[in-house]
Amino acid sequence: MSPLRPAPPRSLAFLVSTLILLLLSARTADAGPLATEFAYPDLVASSILYVDTGGAFLESRNRAFRAAVTNPGKQQDRFYLAVLHTPSATVVWSANRAAPTTSSGSVNLTAQGITVSDPNGTVLWSTPSPLRSPVTALRLQDSGNLQLLGAGNATLWQSFDAATDTLLPGQPLRAGACLAAAASAAGLAEGDYRLAVTAADVVLTWQGSTYWRLSNDLRSYKDRNVAVASVSVNASGLFAVAADGGPVFRVDLAAAAFPVLKLGYDGRLRITGYPMVNSSASLGGDFLAPANDCDLPLQCPSLGLCSTAGNSSTCTCPPLFAASPSTPGACIPGDGSTLASPASCQSNNSTVPVSYLALKSQAAYFATKFDPPTMAGLNYTACRGLCTGICTCLAYFYDTSSRSCYLVREKLLGSLYLSSSASALGYIKTVHSPQNGTRNSKSSSANRTVPIVLPSIAAFLLVAVIAWYACWRRMRKNGKKKKAKSSGVKQAYVGRKKPPSWDTGNADADDDDIVVPGMPTRFTYAEIATITGNFGTKIGSGGFGSVYKGELPGGEGLIAVKKLEAVGVQAKREFCTEITVIASIRHVNLVRLRGFCAEGSRRLLVYEYMNRGSLDRSLFGRTGPVLEWGERMEVALGAARGLAYLHTGCDQKIVHCDVKPENILLADGGQVKIADFGLAKLMSPEQSELFTTMRGTRGYLAPEWLSNAAISDRADVYSFGMVMLELIHGRKNRGEQTDNNVAIIGGSGEQLSEWPSGWSSAAAASTPSGASCSGDEYFPMVALELHEQGRHLDIIDARLEGRADEAEVARAVRIALCCLHEDPAQRPSMAAVVRMLEGTVSPPEPRVEALGFLRLYGRGYAVPTTSLVAMAGTSGSAGTPSSTAGASQLTDSLQGVSEPR
Ligand SMILES: *[C@@H]1O[C@H](CO)[C@@H](O)[C@H](O)[C@H]1NC(C)=O
Ligand SMILES: *[C@@H]1O[C@H](CO)[C@@H](O)[C@H](O)[C@H]1NC(C)=O
Ligand SMILES: *[C@@H]1O[C@H](CO)[C@@H](O)[C@H](O)[C@H]1NC(C)=O
Ligand SMILES: *[C@@H]1O[C@H](CO)[C@@H](O)[C@H](O)[C@H]1NC(C)=O
Ligand SMILES: *[C@@H]1O[C@H](CO)[C@@H](O)[C@H](O)[C@H]1NC(C)=O
Ligand SMILES: *[C@@H]1O[C@H](CO)[C@@H](O)[C@H](O)[C@H]1NC(C)=O
Ligand SMILES: *[C@@H]1O[C@H](CO)[C@@H](O)[C@H](O)[C@H]1NC(C)=O
Ligand SMILES: *[C@@H]1O[C@H](CO)[C@@H](O)[C@H](O)[C@H]1NC(C)=O
Repeated sequence: MSPLRPAPPRSLAFLVSTLILLLLSARTADAGPLATEFAYPDLVASSILYVDTGGAFLESRNRAFRAAVTNPGKQQDRFYLAVLHTPSATVVWSANRAAPTTSSGSVNLTAQGITVSDPNGTVLWSTPSPLRSPVTALRLQDSGNLQLLGAGNATLWQSFDAATDTLLPGQPLRAGACLAAAASAAGLAEGDYRLAVTAADVVLTWQGSTYWRLSNDLRSYKDRNVAVASVSVNASGLFAVAADGGPVFRVDLAAAAFPVLKLGYDGRLRITGYPMVNSSASLGGDFLAPANDCDLPLQCPSLGLCSTAGNSSTCTCPPLFAASPSTPGACIPGDGSTLASPASCQSNNSTVPVSYLALKSQAAYFATKFDPPTMAGLNYTACRGLCTGICTCLAYFYDTSSRSCYLVREKLLGSLYLSSSASALGYIKTVHSPQNGTRNSKSSSANRTVPIVLPSIAAFLLVAVIAWYACWRRMRKNGKKKKAKSSGVKQAYVGRKKPPSWDTGNADADDDDIVVPGMPTRFTYAEIATITGNFGTKIGSGGFGSVYKGELPGGEGLIAVKKLEAVGVQAKREFCTEITVIASIRHVNLVRLRGFCAEGSRRLLVYEYMNRGSLDRSLFGRTGPVLEWGERMEVALGAARGLAYLHTGCDQKIVHCDVKPENILLADGGQVKIADFGLAKLMSPEQSELFTTMRGTRGYLAPEWLSNAAISDRADVYSFGMVMLELIHGRKNRGEQTDNNVAIIGGSGEQLSEWPSGWSSAAAASTPSGASCSGDEYFPMVALELHEQGRHLDIIDARLEGRADEAEVARAVRIALCCLHEDPAQRPSMAAVVRMLEGTVSPPEPRVEALGFLRLYGRGYAVPTTSLVAMAGTSGSAGTPSSTAGASQLTDSLQGVSEPR
């Protein structure tokens, strides 16, 4: 490499790069023809013409950025027009990613724009043409934005509008646009990873399958339910903002004057903070998404089973698969067959028989975690048939409980991760090479006859369970005298037949704890602190306590942790008994309890996360999009199904007692779930007495709470009727000013419990109810009167602007009013309500005489109720007010009952 000998191209490149480094570190002020801030037509630049500055021909005024013709991968045939962040020597934008030029290729700045061409003049890339006016200058701003200026300094084009894989502060990425990662470290050509901004979220995808969502990231915080217009980074973090400029999602990051967001060629989103725009060293503590290696689609290429151990991850092969001899980390079928490949679909369309290898139940595929199923409502056979019928389908995942079918139709299969909660089982398509038909006994081609497969699976399971149990016992024995129960986030405990006797902290007999996947996990407090980031993201609070967002390790998803903050604490044994009951209740319309913690006096409940928060936010929120009529009826149906299941579907009838919009949670994909059922039982005896007197929330409380009548499931039906009216009307049934007991702590509100304000410790914030109510009208009375006059379209939410079918509205109003009948026996059961909502049964005409109390209440509503305090005072101690609720008394009581006593 003597500089005296003629330098071959490679060493020339070496010289050039050395030169760049020298120039950068020396920061010579007089670096050849390097222009500052502005360059003017007609300019020709190439790496050779600007060899003194390493191809750079324009520098920003603050010297932090340069526009250059450069080869970041140091390859002679891959030169790009790029904007470099000079202190860190990174490319922040590039023009001709898809078509690199050579060292002698030129960049021409003319009045028509910029072109990049190869040495024989072929244009490889150009700014859009024609431009609105002739170019007067090229400007490199201090922000790193490269602009073409026209007459009057109008911006004709700018690099900030054509982001590649990097976002700089002040550079928004608009909804519908995306960043595309480079394919490799060496070049800038586009690879398969994308960061896309949608109206609802910010997502990372690989070959079209989602592997990360901002909304699902533990560190993100959702401010409101409105459409995302763009995403950007600034000194305080990452923001997805709405069209009005206010944040929808945000991730607060350590303050850094100059954060750089880049989607790496490895598929990882990284935000690196620099203390100044001209600093070369970052602050450290980069934001990484996804945070875990095993959440990357290709961490273990092609079917490797990724597991995290400490800070690193390892790849193993699932049962029935063997390590690929050619690709490290990849797996191939262990039976000598080969994986189906899309490539074979073009060349050879003879119908090769395919078979499937089943994955074990805990091996989950990244795409089934975020993407909706390819098809829902299919049976297993149909799902398999679908995959078999599509040559490019490489595998399918089937979830029996939700009848969801996911087809994997990518160029290749990604990695698997271990998850005890994934409910979809995977089946990998394999093709048998015709020559080698020999199969060993392990080959479990799914086409085999059932009589052989079933016993062997059963035997295998039995052996596995026995081996595992023996192993586990040994571990317990060998383990130090640690508290066995706190031993692992992934372990789940459940009693066999009767509730387990977890309890008292003594060494338990071994058979106290049987671990069965799927039952609620028992966590230690320290574990919960870890998975919630030390209770860092509070998403709501209510009468039972505060709610925090968290994420289970190992890709098991987001959770909402409810910290019961009530005074009296139920004894551990009873608490655990109730937990077992609540957790055993599973229904698609009920929020699932995933785990709990009972440690000392601490009681925490771990629920699945519902990303759209509670119904009141979507229904009454001023800012979000209006819930359409169809969506409202879907919500009503989902909530009704959940309640019907509580009333009739499980062993023990459960009366919710607190049905209201705040306890109906929504999530993407139209999910509707009832929250907080069964919680009444978690209170200590003295507390539950208090609870009995205060159960429910005013406005939704059935009249029988005030009389001696027994409380039955029809009390929930009444509350549901009130919720139905609110769904129809889009407003709280009660006026605004008296309704001040909703505590919202922003966020993607979970279980935001409305509770009498005096009892809740949370500050009573003003209600989020939208729709400044037109006065103090009691809406159920208004609805009844409009119904009698047949003016159903006048009942619906004005924001719908009439987008509802009158017959449907009439039906919904009839159902709601029937639920409000004063006599519980005259209300339909929830199961009947479900059938009416489904349309299989038409709702009966509401009995007007059974609704007269609504009028009474409606009339008394605006009148200041002086007897309220007295009423509350007398009825408080017993919990079952003994008054026989005359009509006027009833009016008062309805308002007064939930006041603290
Ligand atoms: C760019 O400029 C060079 C030198 O003037 C010229 O030879 C080449 O044809 C130009 N290319 C284009 C596309 O204008
Ligand atoms: C341009 O030159 C390259 C070699 O430098 C050659 O491979 C390419 O075919 C030429 N293109 C045209 C359009 O002549
Ligand atoms: C364009 O911008 C430059 C630099 O900011 C300024 O000197 C010049 O006056 C501007 N021209 C017009 C027409 O605004
Ligand atoms: C960053 O952007 C968000 C959203 O536009 C804004 O609320 C916040 O104040 C900005 N922070 C800084 C330091 O500019
Ligand atoms: C960065 O810029 C600041 C002023 O903007 C200057 O004081 C500092 O010396 C610069 N640092 C480097 C490394 O150039
Ligand atoms: C594949 O199918 C196409 C039409 O479907 C046919 O024209 C072609 O000959 C087939 N190729 C082979 C190898 O069978
Ligand atoms: C699966 O569904 C198909 C139609 O979708 C039906 O023909 C078939 O009988 C079903 N199979 C089973 C086992 O239910
Ligand atoms: C078939 O198997 C034999 C040995 O088992 C091996 O030598 C041969 O290469 C295989 N043929 C193919 C096409 O895989």
